[in-house]
Amino acid sequence: MQGIKRNILLNPGPATTTDTVKYAQVVPDICPRESEFGNLMEYVSVELARLVADPAEYTTVLFGGSGTAAVEAMLTSAVAEDAVIIVNNGAYGKRMCEIAEVYGLHFLEFKSPADDAIDLAALESMIETAPRRIAQLAVVHHETTTGLLNDIALIGEICRRHRIEMLVDAMSSYAAVPIDMKQMNASFLAASSNKNLQGMAGISFVIAERGKLEAMRQRKPRNYYLNVYAQYKFFSTTRQMRFTPPVQTLYALKQAIDELKLEGVSGRYERYSKSWETLTDGLARLGLATIVPKQHHSKILTSVLEPDCGGYDFNDMHDYLYSRGFTIYPGKIEGTKTFRIANIGDITYKDIEAFLQLLEEYLRQNGHTCGKGDDR
Ligand SMILES: Cc1ncc(COP(=O)(O)O)c(C=O)c1O
Repeated sequence: MQGIKRNILLNPGPATTTDTVKYAQVVPDICPRESEFGNLMEYVSVELARLVADPAEYTTVLFGGSGTAAVEAMLTSAVAEDAVIIVNNGAYGKRMCEIAEVYGLHFLEFKSPADDAIDLAALESMIETAPRRIAQLAVVHHETTTGLLNDIALIGEICRRHRIEMLVDAMSSYAAVPIDMKQMNASFLAASSNKNLQGMAGISFVIAERGKLEAMRQRKPRNYYLNVYAQYKFFSTTRQMRFTPPVQTLYALKQAIDELKLEGVSGRYERYSKSWETLTDGLARLGLATIVPKQHHSKILTSVLEPDCGGYDFNDMHDYLYSRGFTIYPGKIEGTKTFRIANIGDITYKDIEAFLQLLEEYLRQNGHTCGKGDDR
């Protein structure tokens, strides 16, 4: 197997992958309606569910599409006539509100600061005083806008008290931050192949309680391609996706799952956390401040305040790093100038050390006085 040029992706997915995952896509052509391919999809579905739940009780509904497809599928298939509360404390919570708006769902937006924990008493009070019955609550687990990790176990507890189904966008936490859907009372969870799973982009999925999926049978669909119930039913009877799946991406996903099983979700999170500690120590040394307090941080992605020095320019810094094999990402917080560094994928703290060295070089060349920084 010939080694492929290794780029260090510090954007929050698609992430750096192993060569074995890349090469897993090179397979003989196959019609995805063959039972051999059905076996592959069955394996992938079961293993994806197993990472967060007991596959006897929960199952995975696969879609061809980016992560937003799974979030859109989850919201527009699970939410019925009653209202849904959508927690918005970043760009991805906002996106769920935008999806709800487009489909005309009855939703209430619970706005919360992008850089601090959710006020759970205020959230519960919104549920109790809502003008109509709340049947669901949708929340992003890890807000990839900032690095804020929402406490879905506590939110799930509130949902349990009020008999509300919890829908979780776990796009950037799944396969790194340990999740137990049953314990956390999550009925539906959306994620994708190309972040902490370290697979290729192109597959997204909804993991759901089997009972909740069956209960959707009577419901009038409001979507077509993204219909979770239709996709679930078709797959469980035929072991095929309703429409053409991303065939080679699924082979890569199988390989990525096998590699994750060797490392374990907690082993992966430990590796990511070590990279994050290295990163945040380094940023503080350079005098760069971050946004989210440590106790609420995912340890997966960090939003950094842009340095206030004359020579700094994000695009220029990006190009400097990119030409040296490191990809960084622009910020996404409204009204605050930030850039983002993710520490996911097949990388280690050694790569972060190399990145910090280049970052320091760039900043010094452009007039930044590297010194003591934020100590949060
Ligand atoms: C929390 C969250 N939700 C949804 C998405 C959307 O995923 P995609 O860009 O693959 O559609 C992302 C992407 O970064 C995300 O981080």
